[in-house]
Amino acid sequence: MTAETAEQYMESLAAEDEQLAKVRQSIREAGMRDISVATGYGRLLTLLVRMSGASSVLEIGALGGYSGICLARGLGDGGRLVSLELRPEYAELAKRNLTEAGFGGKVEYRVGEALTSLERVAEEGLTFDFFFIDADKGNYLSYLEWAIRLARPGAVIVGDNTLMRGRTLNPAEQGGSVTRMREFNRMIVQDPRLEGALLPAYDGLAIARVKETK
Ligand SMILES: C[S@@+](CC[C@H](N)C(=O)[O-])C[C@H]1O[C@@H](n2cnc3c(N)ncnc32)[C@H](O)[C@@H]1O
Repeated sequence: MTAETAEQYMESLAAEDEQLAKVRQSIREAGMRDISVATGYGRLLTLLVRMSGASSVLEIGALGGYSGICLARGLGDGGRLVSLELRPEYAELAKRNLTEAGFGGKVEYRVGEALTSLERVAEEGLTFDFFFIDADKGNYLSYLEWAIRLARPGAVIVGDNTLMRGRTLNPAEQGGSVTRMREFNRMIVQDPRLEGALLPAYDGLAIARVKETK
C-alpha cells in the first residue's frame, strides 16, 4: 500500500483499535458529525498524559468520548478526568462510551457552557495537571486563560484544530474566531507563562507546558 499523506502513513503503522473505531461508529449512528480528534493525535494524547504523569485531566469538548478514552488511557490508578460538554445528549453518549471502555469510574461530565462550568470548577478550588481544549474555536483564548489559571505547576495544555482547515494561515481570513485562534497560537509559543510548540499535522495541534513561575 502507498500512503498518500504523512498522516495516512503514520496510521498505516498504528491503526485505530476496535474500541475507538466503535466510538466513531456510535457517533455516526447517533446522527452526529464525527469531529473527534484525529487517530494519530488521539494516540499522542494517551502518550502525553502518561509521560507527564498527570493524575487530574480537564477536557473542554467531549462529543462522543473519543478523546476522553484516549486521555483516560494515559491515567494511572486514581487518575480523574473532568469533561465539559455543552450538549447533554453528547455527554450521555460520551459517558456510555467511556463506561463501555472501562473508564466510567474515572470520568465526570459537566453539561453546559464551558465558560460557566469553568467558573464553577474554579469556585470549587479544583486544579489540573493536563488540559485538552477541543470545543468552540472562538473561545479558545478564554479557555487558554482558564487553563493557565487552573493549572498546577508544570501542567500540560493541548489544543486541537489550531489550523482551522487552513484558515489560520490565510491572511484573507480576518473573522473573529480565526483572529482569536492566531492569538491563541501566538500565546502557546510566546506567552512568558508557557513553553509551547505547534504541530502542523492533521488540523494542527498546540502543546504547551505551564511554567512553575506563571
Ligand atoms: C470537536 S468536538 C470535541 C471532540 C472530542 N474532544 C473528541 O476528540 O472526541 C467539540 C465539542 O465541543 C462542544 N462544545 C461546543 N461549544 C461548547 C461550549 N461553548 N461549551 C462546552 N462545549 C462546547 C460540542 O458540543 C462538541 O461536542
